[in-house]
Amino acid sequence: MCGIVGYIGTRAASKILVEGLKTLEYRGYDSAGVATVGEGILQRTRAKGKLINLQTKLEGLEDPAHLGIGHTRWATHGKPEEHNAHPHTDTKERIAVVQNGIIENYRELREELKAKGHQFRSDTDTEVIPHLIAEYLQNPAENPDSDTVLTEQSSFLEAARQAVNRLKGAFALAMVSVDFPDELLVVRQQAPLAIGFGQGEFFCASDTPAIMPYTQAVLTLENGELARLTRMGVEVYDFTGHRLKKKPQTLNWNPIMVEKQGFKHFMLKEIYEQPGVVRTCLETYLDTSWDQQSGRSPINLNLPNALLDDLEHIQILACGTSWHASLVGKYLLEQVANVPTVVQYASEFRYAPAPLMANTLTIGVTQSGETADTLAALEMEQTRRSASCDERHAPRMLGITNRVDSSLSRLVPHVMGTMAGIEIGVAATKTFVAQLMAFYFLSLELAYRRQTISSARLAELIEGLRQLPAQLELVLESQERYVEELSHDFADTTDFIFIGRGINYPIALEGALKLKEISYIHAEGYPAGEMKHGPIALLDEKVPVVAIATPGTVYEKVLSNAQEAKARDARLIGVVPMNDADAEDTFDALLPVPIVDELLSPVLTVVPLQLLSYHIAARRGLDVDQPRNLAKSVTVE
Ligand code: M6R
Repeated sequence: MCGIVGYIGTRAASKILVEGLKTLEYRGYDSAGVATVGEGILQRTRAKGKLINLQTKLEGLEDPAHLGIGHTRWATHGKPEEHNAHPHTDTKERIAVVQNGIIENYRELREELKAKGHQFRSDTDTEVIPHLIAEYLQNPAENPDSDTVLTEQSSFLEAARQAVNRLKGAFALAMVSVDFPDELLVVRQQAPLAIGFGQGEFFCASDTPAIMPYTQAVLTLENGELARLTRMGVEVYDFTGHRLKKKPQTLNWNPIMVEKQGFKHFMLKEIYEQPGVVRTCLETYLDTSWDQQSGRSPINLNLPNALLDDLEHIQILACGTSWHASLVGKYLLEQVANVPTVVQYASEFRYAPAPLMANTLTIGVTQSGETADTLAALEMEQTRRSASCDERHAPRMLGITNRVDSSLSRLVPHVMGTMAGIEIGVAATKTFVAQLMAFYFLSLELAYRRQTISSARLAELIEGLRQLPAQLELVLESQERYVEELSHDFADTTDFIFIGRGINYPIALEGALKLKEISYIHAEGYPAGEMKHGPIALLDEKVPVVAIATPGTVYEKVLSNAQEAKARDARLIGVVPMNDADAEDTFDALLPVPIVDELLSPVLTVVPLQLLSYHIAARRGLDVDQPRNLAKSVTVE
């Protein structure tokens, strides 16, 4: 949440900051601001609302400064008003700070600083930081908690270090001061912060897409590190002031990935990228030369035996759409690999963990790799398992993420990348499908190891996986126009119900979440068999019901549940097998998908629901890629 950018070099900073904020706007869009330092002036411009408002304010302002910071905000403390927009400054407006995260002890710091005469102008937690730095610049701490005081290099750095040591919470910071016009300071503590290395110029950002157009050489800070960027280079320190040796890595992201490429919205582009994403996953994780006779696993996970062998349980921790993908994962892990599996909301698990189970694989699923609850739940689990005297409780931790450069990869020793490429639309689409693919590979690998399915069945499922990209293309080609037309009927609908069973129950949840988050229509997903235990009371002719009814163990059951809804006058939309007479008789509108093995069907059934939610939101004229109140990665609790 919140996007941070910073620049020091030879070019006009404000242009680079605004370009960076454009690529980070998906992280928060309540307000935006920049502060630059040049010719003895700290110039700050802020605007409420979307970035375009800030751009309008900056138009015509000549600002040749070569140093600056910028921010796009997702409000936590204080309403989304201009006076709460970042950057925040100290009383004398000599220091400017942007923050992503939460400063938990800001109230006591604010009182302390107010008592010393500092004047506050916002309702935010962030504002304590520039005041604290100003205080330490004027009155360095008497007993600095460091044996390496940094005053010789820079009193700004040392004051910032002292200030940071007073902060409690999870945060990333970028800071400039008009009194130190050759320094950009950045800090990471439980919130992401990357530094880009150019020629005589350096960049910082809370996410790499903002840096990508300028350089592929990127250093991701670790928790507890602060860095000083000058035109000469980058120095990294820990919070005690010790200098650390750090080198940038080369990114393999491509700037083209963060362009719409002719699509009206990123979400639509990302829906259309799904066949390619599935192909990449297959190329990465399937052994192309495998056949039934080869006597080895068809899957290349590159994970150690100690992680996967002799498992008694799996527990999966995730939030939002990743939680839905994990429910599909649970179905596969239990039904294919025969491993009892629980899926927990990370936000619940971290405060009420289940008693430790023996020989358990813990999987954290997060597309961003930055979700605060998921990271905290994983960290807690790792700590309590490491502390257990019973070696059967030893931690076995795996991450599934689309960002292998994220905080998740620093936290857990093993990671499966989901290979979807960067996702900009706030509503997750292609990364969901890629998470499903990760669960197919993991469950088939475990099934192979545990011999829970025959090699003929394994071969059948592998062949089914290989067909998916072409089948996804078919769904997209055949449905785009029809779904667009169908969406006209729901411009004024206020409630939707999604139903599914078995492996498609999580797809009903995902369909409802997609519709809620981008169209603001109230939607609920239910296991179809549960409707008559209460929710059926909601149904009448004004509440459409979307049922996922694909061939398999529960097909007829879902059709019956759909009939029950129809008997209550609900308009029925069916995600159904192509050319199926029973489905044609039952539903008012059909969203057909190719007939595939029931276990593989979620990869296809989710697509019409993504398209439906996209077109309803677009039809209502809503901001599909940046829905209200949301942010792409939820880096606060
Ligand atoms: O990055 P993560 O997968 O950890 O994100 C979890 C949720 O915040 C995320 O899936 C959210 O629900 C999406 N907006 C769904 O489209």
